[in-house]
Amino acid sequence: MTTIIDGKAVAASVIASIKVAHEALEAVGGLKAGLAVVIVGDDPASHAYVGAKGRMAKECGFVSVQHTLPEQTSQKALLALLEELNRQETIHGILVQLPLPGHLNSEQVIQAISPEKDVDGLHVVNAGKLATGDLATGLISCTPAGAMALLAGIHGPDLSGLNAVVIGRSNLFGKPMGQLLLNANATVTIAHSRTKDLAGICRKADILVAAVGRAEMVKQDWINPGATVIDVGINRVAAPERGEGKTKLVGDVDFGACAETAGVITPVPGGVGPMTIAMLMANTVIAASQQLGLPRPVF
Ligand code: GUN
Repeated sequence: MTTIIDGKAVAASVIASIKVAHEALEAVGGLKAGLAVVIVGDDPASHAYVGAKGRMAKECGFVSVQHTLPEQTSQKALLALLEELNRQETIHGILVQLPLPGHLNSEQVIQAISPEKDVDGLHVVNAGKLATGDLATGLISCTPAGAMALLAGIHGPDLSGLNAVVIGRSNLFGKPMGQLLLNANATVTIAHSRTKDLAGICRKADILVAAVGRAEMVKQDWINPGATVIDVGINRVAAPERGEGKTKLVGDVDFGACAETAGVITPVPGGVGPMTIAMLMANTVIAASQQLGLPRPVF
């Protein structure tokens, strides 16, 4: 029997513990955690994600601020806003939704966020702490942290002896995911678009993590029987079976077929997605605790 991970349920239990930690922070620190989310442009999917992040921040009891900037926003104006948010004592976490419009320099924007407030874990200070195995003082990128929490629920915290394959090498996901797996003692392969015999490499995986951004690319015969499959993709595709012009979300894994071979698998939607938002809330409480000089909660 294949286990289908219920990411919504796991995320709900993480959120419950975040609310408890936040109440304690408010009682001792005397203020709420503050999260500022910055979005540039009109991309509907990005607006949907940002809306969900803001709603969850409010549900957790945080101060939630959204800065919606027009598509034509200049690099200088965006950097000025980040400087202001870095200074504001009521804001403990800052997230700039990616991707940014093409005329903006994303890397410079990410590095302009104070590392203490970088709840996306993308600043070189946080990425460097993760790369050197310091998981205790930095902030970790939310989607990989969420994927690791799901894996810990299946395999426990120690992945010794397990082969993990990550497809995708982005700074946002693939690289930090590889580091987290390595830190948990897995034997890690990071595969990407230039990898030879991708299917063959995936077939050796006890843990297969797909983050390629191509709908249903991972096929059933790529799956090692009994493997744990974590699907990080969110792709909107046509769904004529649901009516003319209808669409649906699918992952990077051909779920229906792969679920027959995998031992454990995450669905899309309802797998890793809800965990990303939960870990963003966790990072916000962690960041606020650190900035207030309080002990760092563990989720
Ligand atoms: N766009 C898609 N996923 C993410 C994320 O985790 N953080 C940010 N900032 N942008 C994203």
